[in-house]
Amino acid sequence: MLRPRYIPPDDIFPPNPWAFETVRYDARLARELTGQAETMFALSNGYLGIRGTVEEGTPVREAGTYLNGFYEHRPISYGEHAYGFPRVGQSILNCPNGTVLKLFVDDEPFVLPPAEILSYRRSLDLRAGTLNRDVRWVTATGKRLHMRTVRLVSLAQRHLAAIEFELTGEDADVEIAVSSELVNSQPLSADTTDPRLAEGFVGRVLHPTGTSAGGMRAMLSYRTRSSGMSLGCGMDHSVSSECPVLTELVCEDDFAAARFRCKLERNKPLRIRKYLSYHYGESSDHTEILFQTASTLDRAMRHGFERIRERQRSDVGRFWARADVTVESDNPRTQQTIRWNLFQLLQASERAEGHGIGARGLTGQTYEGHYFWDTEIYVLPFIIYTNPAIARSVLKFRYDMLDKARARARELGHRGATFPWRTINGDEASAYYAAGTAQYHINADIAYALRKYVEVTGDQEFLWNYGAEILIETARLWFDLGFFSDVKGGRFCINGVTGPDEYTALVNNNCFTNLMARENLRYAVQSVRALERLHPPLFEILVARTGLEPSELEQWHEASERMYLPYDGRLKIHPQDDDFLDLKRWDFATTPEDNYPLFLHYHPLNLYRSQVIKQADTVMAMFLLNEQFNHDEKRRNFEYYEALTTHDSSLSVCIQSIIANETGFKEKAIDYFDFAAAMDMSDIGGNMMHGAHIAAIGGTWLALVYGFAGLRDTAGQISFDPKLPETWSALNFVLTVRGQTLRIEIDRMSATYRLLNGEWVSFSHAGEECVLSSAEPILTRAFGPEQPLQ
Ligand code: BGC
Repeated sequence: MLRPRYIPPDDIFPPNPWAFETVRYDARLARELTGQAETMFALSNGYLGIRGTVEEGTPVREAGTYLNGFYEHRPISYGEHAYGFPRVGQSILNCPNGTVLKLFVDDEPFVLPPAEILSYRRSLDLRAGTLNRDVRWVTATGKRLHMRTVRLVSLAQRHLAAIEFELTGEDADVEIAVSSELVNSQPLSADTTDPRLAEGFVGRVLHPTGTSAGGMRAMLSYRTRSSGMSLGCGMDHSVSSECPVLTELVCEDDFAAARFRCKLERNKPLRIRKYLSYHYGESSDHTEILFQTASTLDRAMRHGFERIRERQRSDVGRFWARADVTVESDNPRTQQTIRWNLFQLLQASERAEGHGIGARGLTGQTYEGHYFWDTEIYVLPFIIYTNPAIARSVLKFRYDMLDKARARARELGHRGATFPWRTINGDEASAYYAAGTAQYHINADIAYALRKYVEVTGDQEFLWNYGAEILIETARLWFDLGFFSDVKGGRFCINGVTGPDEYTALVNNNCFTNLMARENLRYAVQSVRALERLHPPLFEILVARTGLEPSELEQWHEASERMYLPYDGRLKIHPQDDDFLDLKRWDFATTPEDNYPLFLHYHPLNLYRSQVIKQADTVMAMFLLNEQFNHDEKRRNFEYYEALTTHDSSLSVCIQSIIANETGFKEKAIDYFDFAAAMDMSDIGGNMMHGAHIAAIGGTWLALVYGFAGLRDTAGQISFDPKLPETWSALNFVLTVRGQTLRIEIDRMSATYRLLNGEWVSFSHAGEECVLSSAEPILTRAFGPEQPLQ
């Protein structure tokens, strides 16, 4: 089932802990891995994302330039329509590509495969935050050239990307031309065989609304056909060379090019700095969007490439200071993989303010750029502990969707709010309700993440001003959705839902959903009562805004107290739902290896009537609500469900690793971790060419910090219970807790806790209470009998 599709060979992709790089050009690999490399080398800041296509524009698999939240409506067509099915979806759009810098040497186009390469390196520099390329080659007529490029998507200015291109003739004079382009290509064609891929559009989506050109600057503007958004994009250049350079500019609706020609004298480089600017907005006035586009370019030209690059390095440096995780292990690839993953989290979130985080970040169009529960459950913990301000803005974005979630609840006949399973603009965009709208758990997932944010950061103000309203509306939903069932002894039951496991749909009393709903109800009651006590004026405002009745708090309390949780006394496990144990077990022995993932080979009905699991479900509940299961329950549940889980979703193995470690399956824990961490690096799912798996990447951090370091943070109480894999000798990381910075250094025998800044922090280590203060900022604690101090 789980297997690496690709093991990067060390001589081509060395396990450099601070870079993901190719140090030798291999034509066959370059051809076979074009799409994968575009994902691995993608750059993004959370607002603007650019896939790692090469400057010469070929070979190419999926050129991609995405803006977070910039989408087009897409009609969803059903063979049979039913009430409440969303009719209009949303799909992230591919914007004009500005990475193209085509080179012509003595009138021949430079393309890597036929070139005779002397040396080659393409490197995603994880400290500098740049994608660098260095190629030396001999032309067919025997001239030696050296090309260097540095590309970045700015963290400081989220509308800006920049490329430095430098070309040197090493042994002779050469006639060269460079065409620096901005190209609006056609939309993706549809692939209907894989449900994860974007469906594509028929016909033109971006309608030109005007261009602007002058000097070496060209700007294009568009309006989307149906969502009515305006897009502005532009490029500008600065050129330096000791040789005279002729320039010309072309600017049409879908294509702009700045062309540079010169006779390059030996060892006198030509240097082109290209700045790219992308803006979008609601305004129908294209001059406004072009004005914004121009402002970004003006600023970039004023600052110059060096300053932009320096700023990028220092921004990335600050990220590593608060978020790096280091591991000492017998596998040199592990550190590189962890850093590449962490870098993806930076890229997906850092400048996402005002938006969500897509399932593939901004590295591909899979799942149409939609936001799922992936954000709250898999990515937010990392952000909460490393960059609380971004976590706040991601949650605020959910709050901003609340009115649409209220409207959706009314459409579905519910009270309160029903957040969309997948969306960009707040409207439900999921076409398959059984594994979409029915995943009501997303409402409790949002409440769960909100609670973690408030408890770990101490940002009560967010809870009072925004969070409490989300809690009221989601609690209302749960109370409306469930009922006190006579058949179940008056317990509160929630029927007709789908849990995280999408191979079991529309079930009654999904254990995960009921547990999470119970937390949602409890937290709503607790928060609203606290607000009433502590801030009566704010409470009054909230009551006025939501029409909250005192009786509702009683009802929610009652429902949470009497929540039904499935339990099987014979097996002593928590069944995934009421009927799960009645189903026939899937016949894994006769399932061909090539039939995974099962959803590409079996009708959903075959999956639904079997005990077969796509991804951690009850095991996920044991992770999120860890304190609500005892050790024996965890172990029995883990063993029961492990045998049935295919991990056909990339969201599964990271969680499996955490619970394996906790329940004493140390080898399984590291095996699952390795799969989670290498999800993209080794293309475990076989689809990384379409984008990085951001949830699995966030889950890798979870598996490090909650798994091997044993972090737990129930009700904001921080505790650690480290258990390192046999092959690791150290694990170090930094957490920000209520504004204090805590560094944790774990080796095979002890854990050292350091307060890097702040006044005071308390936590527990293996059950023992510990306090760090500015007077006593360091504490070392040994492990239990398993790993004694020597
Ligand atoms: C998983 C969902 C997930 C979605 C987006 C699906 O395959 O089953 O849990 O939210 O992918 O990552």
